[in-house]
Amino acid sequence: MKKGRTMFFCQECGQQSPKWLGKCPSCGAWNRFVEEELRDGEAGQPAAIRFEGVPESIDAIAADEGERLATGIAEMDRVLGGGIVAGSAILVGGDPGIGKSTLLLQVLEQLARRGLTVLYCTGEESARQIKLRGKRLGASAKELLVLVEVELENILRQVQEIKPAIAVIDSIQTVYSGALSSAPGSVGQVREASGRLILMAKKTGIPIFLVGHVTKDGSIAGPKVLEHMVDTVLYFEGDSGHAYRVIRGIKNRFGPTHEIGVFEMRDTGLAEVANPSAFFLAERPEGAAGSVVVPSMEGTRPILVEVQSLVSPTSFGMPRRTAIGVDHNRVSLLTAVMDRICGIRLGASDIFLNVAGGVKVDEPAIDLGIVAAMASSFLDRPVAAGTVVFGEVGLTGEIRGISQTEIRVREASRMGFTRCILPRTQTRECLPEMPIDLVRIGSLRELTDHLF
Ligand code: TYD
Ligand code: MG
Repeated sequence: MKKGRTMFFCQECGQQSPKWLGKCPSCGAWNRFVEEELRDGEAGQPAAIRFEGVPESIDAIAADEGERLATGIAEMDRVLGGGIVAGSAILVGGDPGIGKSTLLLQVLEQLARRGLTVLYCTGEESARQIKLRGKRLGASAKELLVLVEVELENILRQVQEIKPAIAVIDSIQTVYSGALSSAPGSVGQVREASGRLILMAKKTGIPIFLVGHVTKDGSIAGPKVLEHMVDTVLYFEGDSGHAYRVIRGIKNRFGPTHEIGVFEMRDTGLAEVANPSAFFLAERPEGAAGSVVVPSMEGTRPILVEVQSLVSPTSFGMPRRTAIGVDHNRVSLLTAVMDRICGIRLGASDIFLNVAGGVKVDEPAIDLGIVAAMASSFLDRPVAAGTVVFGEVGLTGEIRGISQTEIRVREASRMGFTRCILPRTQTRECLPEMPIDLVRIGSLRELTDHLF
């Protein structure tokens, strides 16, 4: 195959060089040179995605976003904002083995069953492996086409010929363009491949899913730029030790972000979890000290999570602080506030905190739950039955109001909880009558009076 001319570009400052350099002579950055293809008539310019557009009056632009293609998997549709938008590019990231291929194969199967031709391109597994996986999932629709291919040019050709309703590229790191000499999975290759696939999606209106592996530091392998290029970024997360998986919207040009869809990994594939609160509370110990339920929000969705804490005297000089599922620094801050305001001295105690089920919560509403769990464990008194708590804790021990109170309280009530400890500032008006006792507190000092 005829090679186009390529150059290496520094990703920091744009300095170019005909060969790879370890250190940029211009800005001094290390290891930032990436090979990119030069397009005709563009000598010295990195090959960028170009759209031949002309300005249009905003008034004249058609505003309907077109039909969304519902996947038929409700949890997935919710995260996408109601379905797949024509011509959109969706990046699905996640740790290896978490279930990305399984999820997308199930999405394709759903669409194929409705008579739509869909294409699954894989560079990771053989057709036979896909077939075996399909058997487990019950995927057997004739309209589901499997293409085992790593060469970008052929993938583009096949997609344009077949014109599937959607195409899945699993994974973007295996796609290889003959135009570049760098290895598959390198930044240059990943960028070139995704750029051309996205351009094709925009031109043809065929939505594409790109599967991306996540590196150890948590970013999608290769370039973070991939996130800027696509319309939607979804992360598929979970713990391989737990059955539950969450798909989370990180960016969405066509819908809400921070929505989640919850699935459970079974031996027949991923099953939707329609009632996550029940799912996460299923194994909660009743009447145990150190366990507190918090109504947390995930996007527009309330989910009850269990915060567990174990506080025990330190046996070595330095007390240990371990927090799983909540921010470590937040825990340090809250222990300091507890010490000062409530007189609960945790300075000589090891503290272990965990959000049960492997969930991660990063909203301030969890603060009061963390404090309640630590206090309960430290005092060895279980929290009163049927109680949920939420609220942000300030540095002076004040309990601050948080958003979406009503939805949280409603979910707690729906799940059979009878008492809710919440910030005082939350006005009475915003909470209509619900069969749940509302205990409003203004300071951390009041917490222990109501908790047990
Ligand atoms: P996979 O979709 O291959 O992960 P990824 O594409 O993100 O790397 O998922 C593989 C894991 O899922 C593997 O550990 C086995 C498990 N699994 C099930 O538990 N049930 C199933 O029906 C399938 C297909 C996979
Ligand atoms: Mg896979």
